[in-house]
Amino acid sequence: MDLYEYQARDMFEKHGVPVLPGIVAETPAEARAAAAQLGGIVVVKAQVKVGGRGKAGGVKVAKNPDEAEAHAAAILGMDIKGHTVHRVMIAAGAAIAEEFYFSVLLDRAERRYLAMCSVEGGMEIEQLAVERPDALARVAVDPLVGIDEAKAYEIVDAARFPADLRDQVAGVIQTLWTVYKEEDATLVEVNPLVRTEDGSIIALDGKVTLDENAEFRHADHAALEDKAAANPLEAKAKHMNLNYVKLDGSVGIIGNGAGLVMSTLDVVAYAGEQFGGQKPANFLDIGGGASAEVMANGLDVILHDPQVKSVFVNVFGGITSCVAVADGIVGALQALGDKATKPLVVRLDGNAVEEGRAILAHADHPLVTIVDTMDGAAAKAAELAAAAS
Ligand SMILES: Nc1ncnc2c1ncn2[C@@H]1O[C@H](COP(=O)(O)OP(=O)(O)OP(=O)(O)O)[C@@H](O)[C@H]1O
Ligand SMILES: [Mg+2]
Repeated sequence: MDLYEYQARDMFEKHGVPVLPGIVAETPAEARAAAAQLGGIVVVKAQVKVGGRGKAGGVKVAKNPDEAEAHAAAILGMDIKGHTVHRVMIAAGAAIAEEFYFSVLLDRAERRYLAMCSVEGGMEIEQLAVERPDALARVAVDPLVGIDEAKAYEIVDAARFPADLRDQVAGVIQTLWTVYKEEDATLVEVNPLVRTEDGSIIALDGKVTLDENAEFRHADHAALEDKAAANPLEAKAKHMNLNYVKLDGSVGIIGNGAGLVMSTLDVVAYAGEQFGGQKPANFLDIGGGASAEVMANGLDVILHDPQVKSVFVNVFGGITSCVAVADGIVGALQALGDKATKPLVVRLDGNAVEEGRAILAHADHPLVTIVDTMDGAAAKAAELAAAAS
């Protein structure tokens, strides 16, 4: 789960990372009041979970509450890379002398953490990483040790911080590590980490990604979830304990096993090219033990997606027999009754395939087409989606 900047700021503050005051506003009037409360120069910052807000015009300096109100009016409702701005944060303005960069993240390939740091932070960091990779220090972090004092100095020196800033920056980096570890994050990024004109080191922007697998250890994390912004189908699927991701296409997908579902997405996208570019509408892995109930829940979610024109059920019977899957499909269609309105292409293979196919053939549901091969079924599903579009 990604946090908004204001949530990251609060989390940083809780752990003692130096930050500036910030107040969230949802209307220009609230922005004005927040600016008046903070006093002095403030910065109006779009709260969206996407990078490059500054460059998109979503970060603006205001010298007084009037300007804060005007900037908020312009930024609220703005579209930044497909994300609508519903909130701004009014942040106290910093007198910036220098901008640095720091992040620590999970390096899955190396099975450890990776810290990245640069004395040339700010909005051009992506370009810096590509054009002058040597200016971005990369330091491996042993998960069993973490960022202790020695590691913090190693990072600071690899980034070539000047001697007079070493102690201060190393201290902030260790505190940021505390956030990473104690909150079970997979990313903590600060860009920019600044030196102000009066010599303080402050985190002016924060990006935090939390590991949802660790939610059971953090009673307070659930409240950070933005339920209003979540896709309603994804929210419904999550409630039903389904592994579902909404995508943009027209062919609904149900499969068992993440690997099979991933390859089903590929096969459908490929087959769809022949039918006017039909694409998968979702990822849905119903896992092993595809009971009638799980199948019904899966179909229920997918059939409520208005973009879906056809559904491809692709199941390989392993531990689960195709008999159970076929019973599941028949039971789900019965349970859904009139709500099942879109054509289903079913491909079954593996354990007890003949018996499974026989159950579907016998049920002879008008919406169901049985196809024996994965490629053939993908093509059929794409064809049906194109016909219904
Ligand atoms: N509180 C502040 N006071 C003064 N300047 C600020 C403040 N917050 C941000 N800035 C300036 O605005 C720039 C962009 O802000 P910020 O880093 O928060 O957004 P961004 O980098 O564009 O967004 P993202 O990191 O999501 O891509 C900063 O590099 C900094 O120069
Ligand atoms: Mg930033």
